[in-house]
Amino acid sequence: MDREMILVIDFGGQYNQLITRRVREKNVYCEVVPYTKALESIKKLKPIGLIFTGGPNSVYEEGSPELPEEIYSLNIPILGLCYGMQLMAKQLGGNVASSDVREFGKTKTNIDPSSPLFTDLAVEQITWMSHVDFVKELPKGFRTIAATDSCPIAAMEDRERKFYAMQYHPEVNHTENGHDMIENFVKDICGAKGDWTMANYAQEAIETIKKTVGNKKVLLALSGGVDSSVAAKLISDAIGENLTCIFVDHGLMRKNEGQEVEDAFKGSGMHFIHVKAEERFLKRLEGVTDPEDKRKIIGEEFIRVFEDEGRKIGVVNFLAQGTIYPDVIESGLGDAAVIKSHHNVGGLPSVVDFDDLIEPLRDLFKDEVRQLGLEIGLDEKLVWRQPFPGPGLGIRVMGEVTKEKLDILRDADAIFREEVANAGLDRDINQYFAVLTNNRTVGVMGDFRTYDYTLALRGVTTTDFMTADWARIPYEVLDKTATRIVNEVDHINRIVYDITSKPPGTIEWE
Ligand code: XMP
Repeated sequence: MDREMILVIDFGGQYNQLITRRVREKNVYCEVVPYTKALESIKKLKPIGLIFTGGPNSVYEEGSPELPEEIYSLNIPILGLCYGMQLMAKQLGGNVASSDVREFGKTKTNIDPSSPLFTDLAVEQITWMSHVDFVKELPKGFRTIAATDSCPIAAMEDRERKFYAMQYHPEVNHTENGHDMIENFVKDICGAKGDWTMANYAQEAIETIKKTVGNKKVLLALSGGVDSSVAAKLISDAIGENLTCIFVDHGLMRKNEGQEVEDAFKGSGMHFIHVKAEERFLKRLEGVTDPEDKRKIIGEEFIRVFEDEGRKIGVVNFLAQGTIYPDVIESGLGDAAVIKSHHNVGGLPSVVDFDDLIEPLRDLFKDEVRQLGLEIGLDEKLVWRQPFPGPGLGIRVMGEVTKEKLDILRDADAIFREEVANAGLDRDINQYFAVLTNNRTVGVMGDFRTYDYTLALRGVTTTDFMTADWARIPYEVLDKTATRIVNEVDHINRIVYDITSKPPGTIEWE
């Protein structure tokens, strides 16, 4: 696609994706590449600006990351951040030194508002610092445009060559006007128009898919999650019945979910196959209690079902996947094709022969995938679906999985979801669900003694699902949920709320 773009050159900084997202928020397309691929990527992608990230190294350390000098004579504006600033300084003839103490946290910073990087900003700013090394002497052609008490060169510019650098991190929210500084660089200094929108993206993606696929056949495994659903809708808009989607319904979905997926896609022009395989899955799960065994069985059976269906549909030229940008970056491959090691599927069905992959969401972050979904008119229920593990409720029913327990859990979980949504919290809590424990306790209902299951409710807030905090759901919402569940769902007489963070807990219970 021919579009203006900014390229982020990554030196191993923890904020590389955040910088990329900040640029995209300004409607300018942006990608991140490892510094080892900087030059070849610049030649291939023709960016209108470069941003060098921070990184854990020190520029004078042996073997620390460097860039080919040629990069500085390509006439492309550069913004260096933290390590990126120090590297620019060193490579362009300045001097970098190490201090005894780390300057860390929110820092009062005086800037020079006459710099194009700081247009319309006040002299006093709060910035976020995290460094030991600092630029001690400017390279030739540069001047200082910001300073703190302990860092006399906190930002620098060479206006003529359009080289700018900041020691602090404008991409994090703690730098109060960091977003404006990035916007100034991208729009004013690099001259970006800012016309990268999801509407344009959808249009271009549909054209590209049409051109690539022509009259050939595409197969997609639809899980009903956001990524595969958006990919399915987009590809189906492009090629209609040449797309076949196989939706394996393992009977471990939440209440009404199978039907919702069917409603969203049936009759949309694609070839949609809803495989109702509950019995097959439950049979294989009989008597199995170990969580890892359950996962393995569900993953394996998923592939068997997919293969059985795949065999029926004959020739497939392309396999489509809902790979998204973090999958691509995290694989470390950057530009190579990645077969998504789908936690959901556990590998690709070997029976399906295909020539190539189609991954129309490869460039997008999760929230962009949702925006795209809305743009192309995908059912909002699917667009806003929270993450759901591939093994589904199989790992939210503790111990042996039976149809009876699944139905109890489905009803309880649906009430919890409804109440969270009624309270307007469904987009604030990143993942929330009910777990049917294997524990029974004594209770009393009317005049009767009961001996029934304990249900656990779990809600977490997180950005990356690697760490998470338990969600502070208001007592009233929990109260209403609990009252409704014990009244409306048989066989649950006690409800607990999980207040464990991750770590030490995991998000799921099994
Ligand atoms: P944990 O429980 O490890 O979960 O803190 C982190 C995130 O991963 C999801 N999860 C899974 N997803 N297959 C999946 O596709 C799995 O076996 C699985 N186990 C956990 C979990 O829902 C959370 O979003």
